[in-house]
Amino acid sequence: MMSMSERGRFISFEGGEGSGKSTQIRLLAEKLEGRGVRTVVTREPGGSPGAEIVRHLVLSGVGKVLGASGEALLFAAARDDHVHNVIAPALGQGRWVLCDRFTDSTRVYQGKLGSADLKLIRAMERVTIGELAPDLTIILDVPAEVGLARAAKRRGQEAPDRFEAEDADFHRRLREAYRQVAIDEPERCVLVDATADVAVTAQRIWSVVGSRFTELHETQSLEEDGLEQKLETNGA
Ligand code: TMP
Repeated sequence: MMSMSERGRFISFEGGEGSGKSTQIRLLAEKLEGRGVRTVVTREPGGSPGAEIVRHLVLSGVGKVLGASGEALLFAAARDDHVHNVIAPALGQGRWVLCDRFTDSTRVYQGKLGSADLKLIRAMERVTIGELAPDLTIILDVPAEVGLARAAKRRGQEAPDRFEAEDADFHRRLREAYRQVAIDEPERCVLVDATADVAVTAQRIWSVVGSRFTELHETQSLEEDGLEQKLETNGA
């Protein structure tokens, strides 16, 4: 078991619609908890009472009226509440925070695709998150068509939200924008192919997490899982 006095680790998950983020976050949290790591699973927009109200507003499509910059400001308001009330306190208590979407979503959706001014986005990051960047960002990569089909299946009879309702070209550009994020920031971001089934993708993510956070090697169960052997095989 690791020392709980130190700051927790912050891992964000990113990707297009239907890339499997919420399932993979849940599986990773279970694995970490099984090794004595206390986790907090959260999401954006949302994750705190104030931010959940903003979530309702943005996903209803108000951004179409406000434009990309106005929409980015709403996401920033939600993030500010979430960071100060949930993420920062949890990290301070030594918990590991697993967050479904974070600042890259604003950079990609409102910035690269919505053409909100990048300077505005960076300025909002300084105010909302300050130094609190994720230690690791896992970008789940699937072809747009695969992700959209998964999202439609999950939704069933419900209407698509503001972003799911965008056309196929939007989702293809979204995927490319995320791939570019991984290229631009290789120290923080790892692109994980999420086309395979849930268990295979979960194992890939576990290998990434194990090689990034070497303190996990101290835990007994990792050895039992054969992860260390796997990491050696992968040259990590
Ligand atoms: P999700 O919870 O289903 O991923 O829905 C959240 C949607 O909000 C998703 O389509 C991406 C979008 N979004 C942004 O456009 N900007 C942001 O900053 C965040 C956090 C999410």
